[in-house]
Amino acid sequence: MRILAIETSCDETAIAVVEAEGNEQSAQFRVLGNTLLSQIEIHREYGGVFPALAKREHAKNLVPILEAALEEAELLHEDTQAIPEEMRSAIARILEREPGLEEQFFEFIGECEPPEIDVIAVTAGPGLEPALWVGINFARALALVWNKPLVAVNHMEGHVIAALVSGNHAASPLASSGVAFELKNPEMPVLGLLISGGHTELVLMREWLQYELIGQTRDDAIGEAFDKVARMLSLPYPGGPEISRLAEKSRLETSETLFKLPRPMLDSTTCDFSFAGLKTAVLYLLKTKSDVSDREKEHIAHEFENAVTDVLWRKTSRAIDETGAQTLVIGGGVSANTHIRRVFIEKMQSDYPDVALRIPSADLTTDNAIMIALAGFYRALRKEFVTDITANGNLSLAPVR
Ligand code: KG4
Ligand code: ZN
Repeated sequence: MRILAIETSCDETAIAVVEAEGNEQSAQFRVLGNTLLSQIEIHREYGGVFPALAKREHAKNLVPILEAALEEAELLHEDTQAIPEEMRSAIARILEREPGLEEQFFEFIGECEPPEIDVIAVTAGPGLEPALWVGINFARALALVWNKPLVAVNHMEGHVIAALVSGNHAASPLASSGVAFELKNPEMPVLGLLISGGHTELVLMREWLQYELIGQTRDDAIGEAFDKVARMLSLPYPGGPEISRLAEKSRLETSETLFKLPRPMLDSTTCDFSFAGLKTAVLYLLKTKSDVSDREKEHIAHEFENAVTDVLWRKTSRAIDETGAQTLVIGGGVSANTHIRRVFIEKMQSDYPDVALRIPSADLTTDNAIMIALAGFYRALRKEFVTDITANGNLSLAPVR
């Protein structure tokens, strides 16, 4: 099965073509084409993602990115295509809310053969709804004009599957095209720690692709906390990698930090998280100072990372104990964090040597379309085809236990 996947949930416009073989027990994948355009530079001056701008950028970039992905996959064959009037007006209706996209769409479609793909997968949520809609409408228009089935993908499931396929924590060039990899059923139950800009969740998979919510944040998502604290320290967006850079610098010199920050909900008897208090603690700390030196910033970043990692680990180990999980996967943009990865690898080896740990290779941790193709494959195997998709900014992976 050849999957064309589209991801526009946040500030990355991404399209991938993945060839997949096999079934739910054992599947092999090969990346045929993979393109990604990050809008980070554009959003940086606003200090965060600006939804209307993200939407406009996605609309501008989807066609060129699709062309590049198909070309890389050697699926782009030039040929003049006549588009019947009825089809044209149906597509115009689908794309009417995406300014600038319609014209590019017809120009591109009119000049190439329908590519040899079997299914189109698109992120339906969670994410920024204006941004999600662009990808969804683009996917619907493509499915219609090329007469291909369409599947809706949950972005967080993409993060889970990406972590499962990578299989180990060695940095592998998984996201480059031509690379082959496989996914054999992991040992169940699988506990997923999902940490990104919009999510902090522990979910449990007892059966393949069925999720139960074990714990979640009661306020800010962890990535949001990283980004907000970075802003307080006058670091550029996205803050996660910046905090990590400063913290690692301080760690090279000392394990003792100059400051102490709270570990919210560390000893609570649930697997829930809270990061708002930690963020506020940093704010108060900064208020006591008229001037913050670079060294002090490094120490704050260091202590902040220590605090979030302590909480993440305590809650995850509680969840492993409570659920008897046999596999732990960590997914989402924050799983790129060096300190979190290091601590989890060490703690899993010392405290849970029999539980398998799967962390995505570095190139698959942040948003990309390969993960959407992988999740889309499993949805297509189950023939969960749809014609209409509604963007759902809060789409959840798991009902509450
Ligand atoms: O999964 P993702 O790319 O997008 C969402 O679905 O939210 O995650 C983005 C988040 C941002 O908050 C960013 O600051 C954070 O992941 N992030 C990091 C690191 N790299 C990205 N946080 C901590 N350390 C990092 N190295
Ligand atoms: Zn994400």
